[in-house]
Amino acid sequence: MAHAQHGDTGVSGGVGLTALMVAAARAIETHRHDTLVRDVYAEHFVRAAPASSGWPVRMREVADGDANPLWGRLGRYFGLRTRVLDDFLLRSVRAGARQVVLLGAGLDTRAFRLDWPPGRVVFEIDRADVLAFKHEVLSSVGAVSRVARTPIAADLRADWADALVGAGFDAATPTAWLAEGLLLYLPSAAEQRLIQTVNRVSAAGSALAFEVKLDRESPAVRANPVYSSTKRQIGVDLLALFDGEARPDSAGDLSRLGWATAVHTPFHFTRRYGCGPQPEQNDALASNRWVFATKTSQQQHE
Ligand SMILES: C[S@@+](CC[C@H](N)C(=O)[O-])C[C@H]1O[C@@H](n2cnc3c(N)ncnc32)[C@H](O)[C@@H]1O
Repeated sequence: MAHAQHGDTGVSGGVGLTALMVAAARAIETHRHDTLVRDVYAEHFVRAAPASSGWPVRMREVADGDANPLWGRLGRYFGLRTRVLDDFLLRSVRAGARQVVLLGAGLDTRAFRLDWPPGRVVFEIDRADVLAFKHEVLSSVGAVSRVARTPIAADLRADWADALVGAGFDAATPTAWLAEGLLLYLPSAAEQRLIQTVNRVSAAGSALAFEVKLDRESPAVRANPVYSSTKRQIGVDLLALFDGEARPDSAGDLSRLGWATAVHTPFHFTRRYGCGPQPEQNDALASNRWVFATKTSQQQHE
């Protein structure tokens, strides 16, 4: 059995609350003059949950504006990440992926926001209570999915492939996979198992994007105001939620399994998209990497 993650309590606490944090950042990003992404559903999630109903959903509600380490810099990071991964998914489905799997989908509204080519299906895996909250809020605002969409309640530390296949996933068809803001919270062995599972059920031509931190951060980085202000302002203790084990080399593992991989810092995309976080001293984003992998052959070297 998978060991307990901190506070498995839906969106009201623990790692589930991070889904609301990202939703609030997307709400703020949506209304920026130089926005990278528009998510009109994001603020409804924030307003609907008692845990977040008082959080800002516009930059003007943040007293210190962009100088705020959480809603300024980290928020901008989430905005950039969302846009880059929107583009990754759209590129992948236009290149031939027929199905999309969002691992740790949280309050991701891509099924409702993006311009999907016909005939695609999006599977959203998260915990049951997170998916129930998401369903309730999206139904209350009359949101209509722009693609066939199948939510799947599963624990991503355990075996989830059977549930995915049971929901109609076809391992013989190219897939676009996404693990956005997920692996940081998983034990090392669970991350390795998840990567092996993705490899096992991926047809050639499948693509996977995910976010990692290279390793546990130094005390100086852990003292970065982004962590203390996130804990103080919204009660999300990221340092306690991040899994403390040495991180696996999932990009390297995928390369060994025959995937072509590219590993980038977020700052690479700040330059490419023209806005986003810039490096700073004792940077809490310096060890973040966004990995893009494509399965080039049908072999499953396990
Ligand atoms: C930071 S949120 C990111 C959500 C979404 N990917 C996004 O970027 O907006 C992390 C999500 O991972 C989910 N999660 C964490 N551990 C999980 C597990 N063991 N099984 C299923 N979902 C998990 C949480 O419930 C939460 O919705």
